[in-house]
This record gives sequence, structure tokens and C-alpha cells, in this order.
Amino acid sequence: MIDSIVLRQATTDDVPAIMDIETPVFAGEAWSFEAMARDVGDTNCFYLVAEAHTDALGGEPTVVGYAGLLAPRGSGDGDIQTIAVLPEFRSSGLGRRLMTALLDEAEARNATRVFLEVRADNPHAISLYASLGFEEIAVRPGYYQPEGVDAVIMKKGADL
Ligand SMILES: CC(C)(COP(=O)(O)OP(=O)(O)OC[C@H]1O[C@@H](n2cnc3c(N)ncnc32)[C@H](O)[C@@H]1OP(=O)(O)O)[C@@H](O)C(=O)NCCC(=O)NCCS
Repeated sequence: MIDSIVLRQATTDDVPAIMDIETPVFAGEAWSFEAMARDVGDTNCFYLVAEAHTDALGGEPTVVGYAGLLAPRGSGDGDIQTIAVLPEFRSSGLGRRLMTALLDEAEARNATRVFLEVRADNPHAISLYASLGFEEIAVRPGYYQPEGVDAVIMKKGADL
């Protein structure tokens, strides 16, 4: 039984656990281990992991989700790089917690605009982003290949 889910900043030691989620969830669009390790270790980025703790059994915490922000200090902009939650942990508020924590970090880095890109056929994610104040600003037709699915660019912030 899960007692709590705790968010903490990821380190490169978390990359194998992140990739265990990334690879099946994003399949053909999954990042490589090397690309993920580069981003997680980049000080311009901020990655979180969500860990499920089973204190009663004294078990090791398990990574059940992660999310990443790119927001170089001084740039004024941030980008949501990625977010994923294990299927069995979805629809219980974890995605929202991860996104809210990334937006707090973007604010702490003085980013006044935050951008993200999402597949047009991902209504669950789009509704999460819209509920957090993101608005669609552009569409890249057929961006995701080979299926030819559009990419929706969304922005939250300053000059909406
Ligand atoms: C997108 C994702 C991270 C959301 O995580 P989650 O933990 O399920 O999100 P939450 O439970 O916090 O739900 C947030 C919002 O999503 C929407 N949502 C949740 N469950 C939903 C469902 N079953 N169907 C449709 N929308 C749903 C609602 O708007 C919800 O808002 P609410 O909190 O007011 O109910 C998760 O679905 C996921 O990992 N998907 C696969 C990877 C992916 O697509 N990443 C995004 C790439 S851009």
C-alpha cells in the first residue's frame, strides 16, 4: 500500500528510473538515456521525480512520475520539457502537482513566460495545461511523424 507520494528534485542517479517510465510511455518519441541524463544534469533545467513511499513495509521508494523544466536564469522564459506519470498513478492529481511545482520553479527563476508543446491527440494533457492557465498559441501541422499528428504550442504568462 502507498503511504505517500513525495516530490523531490531529480539527480542523474534517477535517470534509470526515469527512463523506465519514459521508454514505454513515449515509445517511438522517447528520449535516449544520454539526452535525459544531459537535461537532468543541466543547471539550466529543473527536474522532479515523484516517489511513492510504502513506509509500513519499510520498502524502497519507487519513482512513479517525473517532470522537467528548462529555464535558464536571466532568459525570462521557461519550457516544460516533459512530464509523465505511470498509468496506474494517473488521474489522482499527481500530474497537476508536478506541473505546479515546475511553474513555481519557473517563477523563482523569474521566467515570465512558460511554453510547452503537446500532441493534438492528447486531450488529457491539454486539459491539464489549460486548467493551469496555458493557452494555445500555434499549431505545427503534422509535426509528430510518422503518424502526422499536429503539435500544439501552448504558453502561459506575461503577454498572453
Ligand atoms: C499528462 C499526465 C502527466 C497527467 O498526469 P495525471 O497524474 O493523470 O494528472 P492529474 O491527475 O493531475 O489530472 C490533471 C487534469 O488532467 C485531466 N484529467 C485527469 N484525468 C483525466 C482523464 N482520465 N481523462 C481526461 N482528462 C483527465 C483533468 O483536467 C485533470 O484535472 P482535475 O485535477 O481538475 O481533475 C499523464 O496522463 C501522463 O503521464 N500521460 C502520458 C505522458 C504524456 O502524455 N505526457 C504529456 C506530454 S506533453
